[in-house]
Amino acid sequence: MTSELRKSAPLLDAYLSYFEAGRLPFTIPGHKQKAHRLDAGLGALVDADVPLYGGLDEIKLTQGTLRKAEELAASFWGADYARFSTGGSTHANQAIVMALGKPGDKIAVTRTAHRSILSALVLAGLEPIWLIPEIDLVTGIPTGIPVSELERALTQNPIALLLTEPGYLGTISELPALITRAHEHSVPVIIDAAWGGHFGFHESIPKHALQLGADALITSAHKALPGYSASALLLAQGNLLNLARIEQSFETTHTTSPAGAPLASIDACRALLQTRGHELIDRLLSNVTNFKSAVQSNFKDSIFLDETHFPIGRFDPVKIILRANVLGLSGVDVEQQLQKSNIRVEMADQDTVVFLATLADDSDDFKYLESALVPILKVLQGPIRETQISLSWSIEPIAGISTRDAYFADSEFVSAVDAVGRISADLIAPYPPGVAVLAPGEIITKQIVNGLAATKKAGVRIAYASDSTLATYRVIK
Ligand SMILES: Cc1ncc(COP(=O)(O)O)c(C=O)c1O
Repeated sequence: MTSELRKSAPLLDAYLSYFEAGRLPFTIPGHKQKAHRLDAGLGALVDADVPLYGGLDEIKLTQGTLRKAEELAASFWGADYARFSTGGSTHANQAIVMALGKPGDKIAVTRTAHRSILSALVLAGLEPIWLIPEIDLVTGIPTGIPVSELERALTQNPIALLLTEPGYLGTISELPALITRAHEHSVPVIIDAAWGGHFGFHESIPKHALQLGADALITSAHKALPGYSASALLLAQGNLLNLARIEQSFETTHTTSPAGAPLASIDACRALLQTRGHELIDRLLSNVTNFKSAVQSNFKDSIFLDETHFPIGRFDPVKIILRANVLGLSGVDVEQQLQKSNIRVEMADQDTVVFLATLADDSDDFKYLESALVPILKVLQGPIRETQISLSWSIEPIAGISTRDAYFADSEFVSAVDAVGRISADLIAPYPPGVAVLAPGEIITKQIVNGLAATKKAGVRIAYASDSTLATYRVIK
C-alpha cells in the first residue's frame, strides 16, 4: 500500500507491514483477519483489525514499536512521557487522576469537566473543589476559569489543578496566569485538551498546554485530529508528577488487548502534524474562514462565534459555532433540517449548533454545508432572542456527601417533585457536551429539575440519568 506517512510513523508501518507479511496466526484475535470466510459482513468489520501483541509487534513486544512511537510523540509535544490509549480521553483522564494522590485528597477541578473526570474522581477517591467558569454575558459562553477561582481553591490545599482547555465551545482560560499561580504552590496542572489535538503547531492556533508550562495534557486523536475512534494521547512532565505512578495507573485501567488501528492512527496523526501540519492547518483555517464569511454575508448580525468575541488567543479559530438565538431560531431545528441533506452536526441545542471541522474536510465539504445551511437559516429565521445561559454552564453545585460515597451508597427512585432537596445518586449531563449538571452526592434543586426538563423538551439528549424520562430521579436512601 502506498503511504508517504509510514516512513515517519513506525506503528503505521507495522500495521501495513502486517498485511504484507501474510502471517498465519495461531493467536488472538480469533477472527484471524479471515472472518469473511464465515460471513462477508463480519469480515468487513474485523478483517482489518490487527492487535498490538502479535500484530504491530511480536507477542512478547520484542520490537518495541509502541514505545518507539510513544517516544516520537513525547518528543514532538515536548513531553517527558507519552502513552497511547485505545480507551479515549476517558481512559487517559482516569489514568492521570488515579496517579495524583490518595483517597480523601482534594483536587481543584473545573465544573465544565467532562463526565470522564467525574468517574475518575470516584475511582481515585478524590474530592473536587469545583471551579466555576466565567460566562460572557453577550454570547452566554463560558470563557474559562478566572484566576480568582483558583485562588479560592488554593486555600483548601488541592493536590492538583485540572482544567478542560479548550472548552467544548472553543474558549480557553488565561492559562499562563493559572499555571504560574498553581506552580507557585507546587500544584501540578493537568489539562484535558480532548478537543485541542491540533493546538501548538501553527502561529494562528493557540499553543498547546505543555508549551504553556502545564504538567500533563490529555487529547483525543479522534476529535480535532483524524485518528481512529477512541484513540487518545496522555502526555506528561516529570517535574511535579510521578511518571512511574502514571505508568502504573495507565496500565491498571487500559485493556490488555489494545487494537492496533487506534494506536497506529495516533502515531500517524503525530507524523501528519509533524510533516504536513502547518500546510494542513493553513488549509483548514482558510476553509473555515471562507465558510463562515460566505454564510455570514447573508445576515446582518454576527451569527458565528469568532476570535473577536474573546480576549486574544482565548478562542480556537477553527471552531464553527452558530449562534442560533441571534437568528431567532432553534439549533435543534437546524440540526433536523440538515439531516435531510445527510449532514450531521456535532452538537445542537436551543441556542447553539456546533460543526466540527478538521484537517480531513476539504473546500467541497464546506461548499456543500454552506449550500444546505443558508436556505435553512433563511427559512427558519425569526426575531433575535436573548442569550439563555445553558444549564451546563450555569450550575453552582451544592455538595451533600462525597462523590465516591454517593456512588456506592444505597439509592431509591423518587418523583421529580420529591427529588428537590434530596442527594443525587446519578451523574446527569446534557450530551454533548457531557458536562455534569448533577454529580453523585450533590443536592438536587428546583432550578436543576426545571432546567433539565426544559433542556430535554428543547430536544437535547439528557445522558446518564437512570430514568431518562426525568419523571423520577435516583437519590441516596
Ligand atoms: C473535554 C472532554 N474530555 C474527555 C472526553 C472523552 O473523550 P473520549 O470520547 O475520547 O473518551 C470528552 C468527550 O467528548 C470531552 O469533551
